[in-house]
Amino acid sequence: MGTDARACIMVIFGGTGDLTYRKLLPALYNLQAKNAMPDNFAVVAVGRRDIQADAYMDAAYKALQQFSRTEVDPKIWAQLCERLYYQKANFNDDGGYYDLKLFLSELDEKHGTGGNRVYYLAVAPEYFPVIVEKLYQNSMVKNRTTSQKVVIEKPFGRDLSSARALNQRITEVFSEENTYRIDHYLGKEMIQNIMVLRFANVVFESVWNSQFIDNIQISSSEIVGVENRGEYFEQSGALRDMVQNHMLQLLTLIAMEPPANLSTESIRDEKVKVLKALEHFTPQTAQEFIVRGQYGAGKIDGKKVRAYRAEEKVSLISNVETFVALKVNVANFRWAGVPFYIRTGKRMQNKGTEIIVQFKRLPQILYFKDYGTLHPNILSIKIQPTEGIYFQFNVKEPGIQNKIVPVNMDFCQNCLAEDNSPEAYEKLLLDVTQGDSTLFTRWDEVENAWKFVESIANAWQTQPTALPTYAAGTWGPLAAEQLLVKDQRQWWQV
Ligand SMILES: NC(=O)c1ccc[n+]([C@@H]2O[C@H](COP(=O)([O-])OP(=O)(O)OC[C@H]3O[C@@H](n4cnc5c(N)ncnc54)[C@H](OP(=O)(O)O)[C@@H]3O)[C@@H](O)[C@H]2O)c1
Repeated sequence: MGTDARACIMVIFGGTGDLTYRKLLPALYNLQAKNAMPDNFAVVAVGRRDIQADAYMDAAYKALQQFSRTEVDPKIWAQLCERLYYQKANFNDDGGYYDLKLFLSELDEKHGTGGNRVYYLAVAPEYFPVIVEKLYQNSMVKNRTTSQKVVIEKPFGRDLSSARALNQRITEVFSEENTYRIDHYLGKEMIQNIMVLRFANVVFESVWNSQFIDNIQISSSEIVGVENRGEYFEQSGALRDMVQNHMLQLLTLIAMEPPANLSTESIRDEKVKVLKALEHFTPQTAQEFIVRGQYGAGKIDGKKVRAYRAEEKVSLISNVETFVALKVNVANFRWAGVPFYIRTGKRMQNKGTEIIVQFKRLPQILYFKDYGTLHPNILSIKIQPTEGIYFQFNVKEPGIQNKIVPVNMDFCQNCLAEDNSPEAYEKLLLDVTQGDSTLFTRWDEVENAWKFVESIANAWQTQPTALPTYAAGTWGPLAAEQLLVKDQRQWWQV
């Protein structure tokens, strides 16, 4: 076996958790199926359960059958089994790290992984600093070298100060270069396509500014409620759970300037500039330009669903928002006067994540004046579940009447892909092994996103009013519609 620069052992802390079963193992399986992993590669799932390797493999196999986007081929599974291990350890217990360290060195011998590690923390956030510190104390990280990386799941902190404290503890052990903060949205196919769409097409980039764009809408809606994450959601709400990370990441990609080159740092530099240009909220502007809501009972697909306050591990008097809509200003030259409307919510009518770019209307010149109102050009970037791009423009309707109608060009990316598009985690795990952190968030992105979000959280603290509820299965509180109506605009439907 020749040694590959990507050779490593991926140690998944939280190896028996939901994320590992639902996302990480299926991603590793599909990478194995594509032969995309290095030869010198192994995976060690770490959990506290006292289970034998066989029992773990059975559970992993069942998870693949349930969650893999491709059918499980026994041959590929057998190949993955040759490099997949389970190791019992308690995150708080030094003995567990000692045993793990010995086991990893044995695997280095067997797989030729040369002491290189990717430590993936698929664990509750309170364990992020604990594990990093224990890895250091047990000499499992060598001098912040590039052969030792750490992957941190979301959420990265609960607010600005906790994010800073967490970051400080991590960077005492791992360098920024070796710290991979996950925002899995960045691994999605269409998100990676935003830069291509903008910077590889003259028709879009030449009009991508306040001269031609009227407003931009970024929506992410879910049909499901909080499911079994009530305890977590009570601490986060939609603002921290979605806006601080995914929604702002989408906004940066839409609003950023073209990077000097395609290096990781150049791209991240431009994204940070956007975050720094976001106009922070005051209690007054928050009142005017932000709408919060919480889902009440309602019907989804004809079935009754309960209100947020009736969900498990949710307070009966909870004032946590399950929906938020906001009008954001990016205060720079390119975007002066162009509002970015963001909304995200649970228990909505449809599931989908979509970015709508609404172009300005042309003046109603004489010739068209009598044909009714011209529809604006709309570019829609569909991120999930449908992936694609849709463009709406005006044509003359065939016939003797001079009627103008909107038509669309619709590119469906996931209809074209030979197999379905790779899951975000496939791309992200592959990038970590290759040392490419472009699709992960740099610390100053996280920090500036928190600064912005904290301006909202602080404003809300001064207005602890009861939230409006919206019926499950709708598009949120009426005030969210009004947010645009008072600007003579409308949400374009996802
Ligand atoms: N689930 C998702 O879809 C999802 C999506 C995005 C982000 N995330 C993030 O990913 C992380 C993990 O989430 P999750 O849903 O997978 O959590 P989870 O299902 O609760 O799994 C937690 C894992 O940690 C292990 N664990 C907990 N305490 C331990 C201890 N003291 N010693 C050793 N092992 C211990 C658990 O082992 P046992 O099984 O033995 O309890 C389990 O393997 C969280 O930060 C979450 O915010 C999750």
